Amino acid sequence: LRGRAQKLARPIGVGSALAIAPLVADDRYRAVAGEQFDLITPENEMKPQFLQPARGVFAFAEADALVDFARANGIKVHAHTLVWFEALPTWMRSAPDKRSVMLEHIRAVATHFAGRVAEWDVVNEPINQDNPDGLEHNLWYQAMGADYIAEAFRAARAADPNAVLYLNEYGAEQDGGRWNALYALVKKLRQARVPIDGVGLQSHEYDAADRVPAEVFRKKVRALAALGLKVRVSEMDVSTSDQAVQAKQFGERIAVCRQEPNCTGFTSWGFTDRYGSTADANRYPPVPGNALPWTTGLQPKRAHTALLNGL
Ligand code: XIL
Repeated sequence: LRGRAQKLARPIGVGSALAIAPLVADDRYRAVAGEQFDLITPENEMKPQFLQPARGVFAFAEADALVDFARANGIKVHAHTLVWFEALPTWMRSAPDKRSVMLEHIRAVATHFAGRVAEWDVVNEPINQDNPDGLEHNLWYQAMGADYIAEAFRAARAADPNAVLYLNEYGAEQDGGRWNALYALVKKLRQARVPIDGVGLQSHEYDAADRVPAEVFRKKVRALAALGLKVRVSEMDVSTSDQAVQAKQFGERIAVCRQEPNCTGFTSWGFTDRYGSTADANRYPPVPGNALPWTTGLQPKRAHTALLNGL
């Protein structure tokens, strides 16, 4: 995949989420990961729960090991994620001064990885289309209002001026309320000159109702281009036992990304069914799945061929 992607007239990143546990324990996983991708996302290792277990106490070892693996194999790192309402240490949920906690976390973490990661998910999953303002009223919002989003991007830009900064969201690649709310949010951020560079569309397809047609996805990419934003497919997986359907979804999605000038990369959420699509460090050895382009035996599936052909 990586060889093909790098030969494109306009190369796009082709990647996977990786987890440290199988990277250490599983030679075949490590071999495939090291040769197939040129962009990886740490699946859990850069979430606040893991990076700042106690206030002011940082645990960078596992995330650093992933970054070192990437560097040794000529792979770029898409870092994930600075601000989210999940994967938080308990102390963070109960801290009275949420704004300082958020800004301090961003500053310390983005500074630590500056120069070694190419991109950041600054804010993950801020949308709730059922609220009148389209935003998830999470702990950060409750403390700071909608401004937490702009503040997070400004802090990330200040800490690592060279990183490409993304807002990452799920379920917004379809038409409907989630997309409308996401579009309204990023339009506002751009108008307010908030330093956001792009949007990650997660692209988890759990069942048939989630299957997004190529042209629907393309419309989203173009609408974001018109706002001056990059787009990436950030966490694709397609849960189905029908390998033809799966291959079609993966192949079409990467092809649209290759064709649309503002689409910078395609990342699947893991790559082998051996660990499912959410290879949780806390569930190791993990539960196998069917949503990814390599089999449990690390053999390429039809989805892998479709990705190659889509590039
Ligand atoms: C998931 C991981 O894959 C799991 O291992 C973990 O238990 C929970 O988080 N959207 C995201 C990712 O942005 O961080 C999530 O990752 C999947 C959904």
